[in-house]
Amino acid sequence: MIAFPEKEEPMRIDRRAFLATLGSAAVVEAMSSEARADALEHYMIAQLDKPAGPPAQPLVVRRGAGALFGGPSPSGQRPELTALATMPERPTLVDFIRFRGTPSIGNHILQSANDALKKGEPEETVLACLLHDYVLNLMKPDHGWWGAQMMEPYVSEKVSWAIRHHQALRFYPDPSVGYEYPELYVRIFGKDYVPAPYIKASYESARKHKWYMDARMITVHDLYAFEPGIKVAIDPFMDIIGRHFKQPKEGLGFDGSPVAHMWRTLNYPDNPL
Ligand SMILES: [Fe+2]
Ligand SMILES: [Fe+2]
Repeated sequence: MIAFPEKEEPMRIDRRAFLATLGSAAVVEAMSSEARADALEHYMIAQLDKPAGPPAQPLVVRRGAGALFGGPSPSGQRPELTALATMPERPTLVDFIRFRGTPSIGNHILQSANDALKKGEPEETVLACLLHDYVLNLMKPDHGWWGAQMMEPYVSEKVSWAIRHHQALRFYPDPSVGYEYPELYVRIFGKDYVPAPYIKASYESARKHKWYMDARMITVHDLYAFEPGIKVAIDPFMDIIGRHFKQPKEGLGFDGSPVAHMWRTLNYPDNPL
């Protein structure tokens, strides 16, 4: 059995490094304290996800549990778990986004979709941005593939294709649309990180594909910077979800689809088996 510490050590924050992630002093000054707190939370999550050194004890549990489950972050920290709302009998995508996700992932996907919406992207791109990281609540490794599979029965082939490939595309800049390698990735993966061959292969095949730009636009709107004072609600996306997400009438998880179990696992994260 692996032993977890009784109480977590409070995390130390490098204030200068944190402020540097926000931008210039003027930008920091213009942020509301709520936006600053959100940014700090995001920063701390990113820090927790930094590669840990060699484990102090042999690993018994791996990291294949998503944020909703409080699964250990790569550095071994475990978040506090809070009670979850009861889900409706026939849960919809919106119920899952509202009641089965952590606030940080919720903020991130809503901000991405909001950015796409404001910039006049097609509705399917807005939907792809809204869905692109939801699966992180369930699973972290290979989240592009997991996320695409989870959404596949309910969205167009193009949307799930784009979600699948955004994972690899994040590692490769595309100056034609102003997409740069994320600063956050330097901190998470290290300066000289070279993506694994399967990621490179996914990128190279995506680059030649007719839907390349659909996946690329997810990365363009994949923002880590919190916009000062902006808290995005799900409401502006209801119509787009209604038009492009095939909500099963039995409810997600109860429709007998090949991925129903993924939704049920999020619905009942405390089931013993
Ligand atoms: Fe992602
Ligand atoms: Fe993302």
